Amino acid sequence: MTTLTQPAAPPIAWTEPVPGARLACADWFVAAQAIERGSIDLVYVDPPYNTGRVRTDRAGAFDDAWPTMDDYIDWLRVRLGVTIPLLRDTGSILLHLDARASHLARIVLDDLLGAECFVNHLIWSYGLGGSSARRFARKHDDILFYCIDPEKYWFEPPLVPATSRRLSGQMKKATDVLDIPAINNMAKERVGWPTQKPLALLDLLVRACCPEGGVVLDPCLGSGTTIVAAISASRDTIGVDRNAEAVKLASSRLFSLTGSP
Ligand SMILES: C[S@@+](CC[C@H](N)C(=O)[O-])C[C@H]1O[C@@H](n2cnc3c(N)ncnc32)[C@H](O)[C@@H]1O
Repeated sequence: MTTLTQPAAPPIAWTEPVPGARLACADWFVAAQAIERGSIDLVYVDPPYNTGRVRTDRAGAFDDAWPTMDDYIDWLRVRLGVTIPLLRDTGSILLHLDARASHLARIVLDDLLGAECFVNHLIWSYGLGGSSARRFARKHDDILFYCIDPEKYWFEPPLVPATSRRLSGQMKKATDVLDIPAINNMAKERVGWPTQKPLALLDLLVRACCPEGGVVLDPCLGSGTTIVAAISASRDTIGVDRNAEAVKLASSRLFSLTGSP
C-alpha cells in the first residue's frame, strides 16, 4: 500500500531586527502555520483590498487583483481560518478593508468566529482624496473588530480630544469613528510603500486592543506601521509579508526607531 504524505511546508526564516520583533518574508498562509497557537493577543491585518490593479509607490509594489470577488473572499477566508487559532482567548482581530469587500468579510468572520464575537465596525475617516460627481466621495475605510471570547477579550478604551464645546480641551473615550488624517505626500512619516497607514491609527488600535507586554501579529506587514506602533508601545510583535522589499523597509523603520544598525 502506498502512503500519501503532505509535502512539508518550507521552514520560515525569521529575523529579529530589534528585541521583541520577529519578521519573515513569507505568505500569510504559510507563516500562520508556523506560529504557536494561542500565543497572540492582537491580529491586525490590512491585506490587499481587491482593487483590481497593481498598487505602486516609490519603495515597492504589490498585486491587488483577483479574477473574481469570490476568489478574493476565498483567499481571505482560508488565511483568516488559519490565523484565528493563533489568538489567546482574551485576544482580538482587526481586519482593515474598504467598501469593496468589508460587507463580505463580515459574513466570513461571523462564520469563522460566530456573530456574537463581533465587537465593532470601526470607520477610519481619513479625509484625503478627491470628490465625485456621481456619488458621495469615499473618505473612509472599514476595520472589523472581532474577539475570540466576548466575556474575556482585553480592551482599554482609547482617549481622544473631545470635540464638543462643553468638553473643550478635555479627552473623551473614542467612538467607532476614528478621525485620523491619511499620510499626505509631504509627510515626514511617509516611506513610499503603497497604502501605508498612519502611525497614529495603529498606535490607537494597538494600545486599545493589546495589553502592554502582549503580542501583535500583522501578516500583511507592508511598510511595518503595525510593528513600529507595537514596539513603541512596549508590545512584542510578529510581522509577515510575502514581499521582501516590504520586510526590508519594515526592518529599517524598526532600526531607526531604536537606533540599532
Ligand atoms: C495594504 S498593504 C499593507 C500596508 C501596511 N498596513 C502599511 O501601513 O504599510 C498589503 C500588504 O500585503 C502584502 N501581501 C499581499 N499578499 C500577501 C500574502 N499572501 N502573504 C503576505 N503578505 C501579502 C503586500 O505585499 C502588501 O505589502
